[in-house]
Amino acid sequence: MISLSVNISEAQKSYPINIEWDSISSMREKILSYVQGKKFLVVISEKVEKLYGKELGFTKEEKFILKDGEKQKNFKNYEKILNLALKMQLTRKDAIIAIGGGVVGDLAGFAASTYMRGIDFIQVPTTLLACVDSSVGGKTGIDTKFGKNLVGVFYQPKAVLINTNFLKTLDERQLKTGLGEVVKYAFIEKSCMNNEEFNLTNFISENCEKILNKDNLTLSSLIQMCIKLKISVVEKDEKENGLRRILNFGHTYGHAIEQITGYKKFTHGEAVVEGIHFAFNLAVKKNLIDKNYKYFADDVMKKFNFRAIPQFPLNKIIELMKMDKKATSDKIVFILPTDYSIVKAFEISEEELIS
Ligand code: GLY
Repeated sequence: MISLSVNISEAQKSYPINIEWDSISSMREKILSYVQGKKFLVVISEKVEKLYGKELGFTKEEKFILKDGEKQKNFKNYEKILNLALKMQLTRKDAIIAIGGGVVGDLAGFAASTYMRGIDFIQVPTTLLACVDSSVGGKTGIDTKFGKNLVGVFYQPKAVLINTNFLKTLDERQLKTGLGEVVKYAFIEKSCMNNEEFNLTNFISENCEKILNKDNLTLSSLIQMCIKLKISVVEKDEKENGLRRILNFGHTYGHAIEQITGYKKFTHGEAVVEGIHFAFNLAVKKNLIDKNYKYFADDVMKKFNFRAIPQFPLNKIIELMKMDKKATSDKIVFILPTDYSIVKAFEISEEELIS
């Protein structure tokens, strides 16, 4: 088992992140060792329940089974979870446990953060995307009809427990959506200000076959490196006032792609990869990097053969990017590469983008 620790000084909270590959049936005991009280509520994805429900061994009464899909991250389910916690009479010592992907983690985490003004929350991410991104760093929330993640709080979990055996049943597309975030870390590595140097672009290039074959040890090393980079960033800037913005590399354009296609056609990772290509092209046009670095980045991304995304009318994309949470009144914030694995934030006007 690999054990990492996160220290968020602003929230005066530190918590462990364990990465292991033991049998899934050992998870129940490990999860419950982090529950202080006598009671807990498990919020579990329907898919994970079907595949691993028996092995995990939680009873029907202990579980809230959440249907799959981003649409489920809504006020109704938030209320249902709170009502169930109230019915179960969870106290402040008890806990809410999320077992699933990012939707489950964000929704259950938000419920935990507001139930009785905040009870313990344990994350058990079961997708690669949730392992390397959403389960770490404390972003929780729900979607509204006005947009994604517009209601939520920063609320750090009590523990994050990763078991790479959950990833064995991910289909190729689900695995690759996580890999979209993985390549993001590779291109921002040096800006994360982590003490250790990984050279993630090399690791990806050298191990792409093993990663795609879901080799337990390779996936564990990969997840460990991505999480260490994320920890380094969120420990320095929990609330995204500065450094944490670099985690949005590829996301300004990527979110617009997701929005324009109704969050249905492309996965988050596919859209982020397209956003990374857009950022590299923009950086070349602005003379921030030379073309060879862009070609190198293209080659790294080609290793995973991500789904190609067609070009959308730039004016429509710009309209959507202007609505981004990070946009200022008339400029759009882009995280762009400036050197090998280094990125910086730039505010770019609509006129400059069009030209
Ligand atoms: N997903 C980006 C972040 O956690 O800040």
